[in-house]
Amino acid sequence: MEPVTTLAASTSSAPIGVFDSGVGGLSVLRHIHALLPHESLLYFADTAYSPYGDKSEAVLTARALAIAAFFVERGAKAMVVACNTATVAAIAALRAAYPAMPIVGVEPGLKPGAAASRNGKVAVMATDAALAAAKFQLLHQQLSQASQAQFLLRGCPGLADQIELGQLDSDDLTAMLRGYILPLLELGADTLVLGCTHYPLVRSAIERIVADAGAAHVVLVDTGDAVARQLGRLLTAGNLLAPAPAASHVAIRGYTSASAAKLRTAFSDLLGLDVAVEAVTLAAPAQMMAD
Ligand code: DGL
Repeated sequence: MEPVTTLAASTSSAPIGVFDSGVGGLSVLRHIHALLPHESLLYFADTAYSPYGDKSEAVLTARALAIAAFFVERGAKAMVVACNTATVAAIAALRAAYPAMPIVGVEPGLKPGAAASRNGKVAVMATDAALAAAKFQLLHQQLSQASQAQFLLRGCPGLADQIELGQLDSDDLTAMLRGYILPLLELGADTLVLGCTHYPLVRSAIERIVADAGAAHVVLVDTGDAVARQLGRLLTAGNLLAPAPAASHVAIRGYTSASAAKLRTAFSDLLGLDVAVEAVTLAAPAQMMAD
């Protein structure tokens, strides 16, 4: 596939595109907005294709390219793949298509997990698709060799879907979390890597389950803050940081392939932000159709 020329991607006041299969990427967006408050953000929740965790790499790559094209049409200067599953499946294709654009992804935090662990038993909770991806397996192999850590990989089918429902204290969600977490604690894990961007949204429920199991010493690893800092570094290096606006404003817009009302509620419930949201249908990018 030929690289796509990124028109209008050079001005520092241009927006940054951030996407996920649904509301999970909001756990990353909140760090970006806190660290880089002058940046305009476009958030795309690909809820019509959620969950990404049971999709093939081909489908995930096609969706990532379609969403990236949508951001570029709106003049995006940078992109954040706020989804572990889409990152390991599709970030190479995105970087090949937009070689001049800063693109930051998120991967399960094996390295910070190994660094945080005292007994070397690091549990990694993620989607099945993320754990199966070649890019993740390479990372796993490299970190297993480079550190003393033993990684306990745990696919969590259904968990992102349950979080999408928005009832973060429900009995069903608590039961599912317990079903995934308690066996990992029994295996002796002292570190839990939250390897899906949906999972930090239920961090307090996870902390409660861990504490009730007498394992309050267990460290939870979430890489949202590291993603925001990496984005800040790339924008600084490319001279792309937004100037401070004249008046205080929150320039965040939401887009979704499903219900606008649902994403608007998620912005408000999860981040306390009142954000205008539009439902859109994306065409497949031209290069994919030509392939
Ligand atoms: N939030 C996504 C991740 O970080 C994917 C969840 C899903 O749609 O399965 O992997």
